[in-house]
Amino acid sequence: MTSSNIQWFPGHMAKARREANEKLNLVDIVIELVDARIPESSRNPMIDEIVGQKPRVLVLNKADLADKRMTQQWIDHYQELGFPAVAIDAQHNVGLKQLMKLCNEIMQPYFEKQKAKGVKPRAIRLMILGIPNVGKSTLINRFVGKNQAITGNKPGVTKAQRWLKMGKDFELLDTPGILWPKFEDPAVGQRLAITGAIKDQLLHMDDIALALIDIIRNRYADILIEQYKLTEEQVHAETSVNLLLAMTEKMGLKEDYMMAAERFIFDYRQNKLGQLTLDIPYHEVSFDD
Ligand code: G4P
Repeated sequence: MTSSNIQWFPGHMAKARREANEKLNLVDIVIELVDARIPESSRNPMIDEIVGQKPRVLVLNKADLADKRMTQQWIDHYQELGFPAVAIDAQHNVGLKQLMKLCNEIMQPYFEKQKAKGVKPRAIRLMILGIPNVGKSTLINRFVGKNQAITGNKPGVTKAQRWLKMGKDFELLDTPGILWPKFEDPAVGQRLAITGAIKDQLLHMDDIALALIDIIRNRYADILIEQYKLTEEQVHAETSVNLLLAMTEKMGLKEDYMMAAERFIFDYRQNKLGQLTLDIPYHEVSFDD
């Protein structure tokens, strides 16, 4: 069972929250990891309540798969809300230095105060928190690389927490906090499904494909025209169902629109459609646009 296949029940949520709280008590900064293609849909609904006043950096991972312009808009949006934010690509080790720099900046006022009291700066303690599939394990592995060293257990928590050393300035909890995604909003569920964050059997492939067609036709119409040989008129005038049927035909699948839906979603997940962001910042256009 992969992490994206977890079924979340109230008991699991309470346990996840408890475990996240235990970790939160041990760290200086929380790295809230989200998927840059769906920065809002891949956030936990109770994240603000769970993290509380603990300093937090919002990290938009998988930036290599997202629309760069939109990623910048999301970063600006989060910064306006008071969260330092940064885009990274954990898989290819891009943006990690910038993330470390941000963490250092956040801790500076504290270290200055400590210094004034004659206390030497210590390593900054971090944890990664996020819903399944946003890249938490990838980031932990990337951070630590080959130089990992376990710096021992900390007492006072139910489960032993191990620290991974990152250079001399950082220590990272070796297991991330895993939280549940938002399920209540159907648009969020569809976007999580499109990116593969929740298991395919939970939603019908054709529904997911229709949701993706709707997003793409509004914001990235050229992709449907170029990749699936649809006309501009079709893309703007036809219903999504008719577009899927037309794509089915262009793919040479006759009337097998379920197969076409699967192929379309697969193309998206394989990054064959280019860098697309499915969520857009609230202040620019409405969420359901
Ligand atoms: P999790 O711990 O939060 O559940 O996520 P995990 O690290 O397992 O990553 C989920 C998937 O996302 C993995 O792909 C991983 O390779 C991919 N991934 C993580 N970070 C990035 C990134 O910055 N860019 C891109 N393009 N992909 C990223 P997978 O298909 O599940 O496994 P695999 O392809 O690595 O075998």
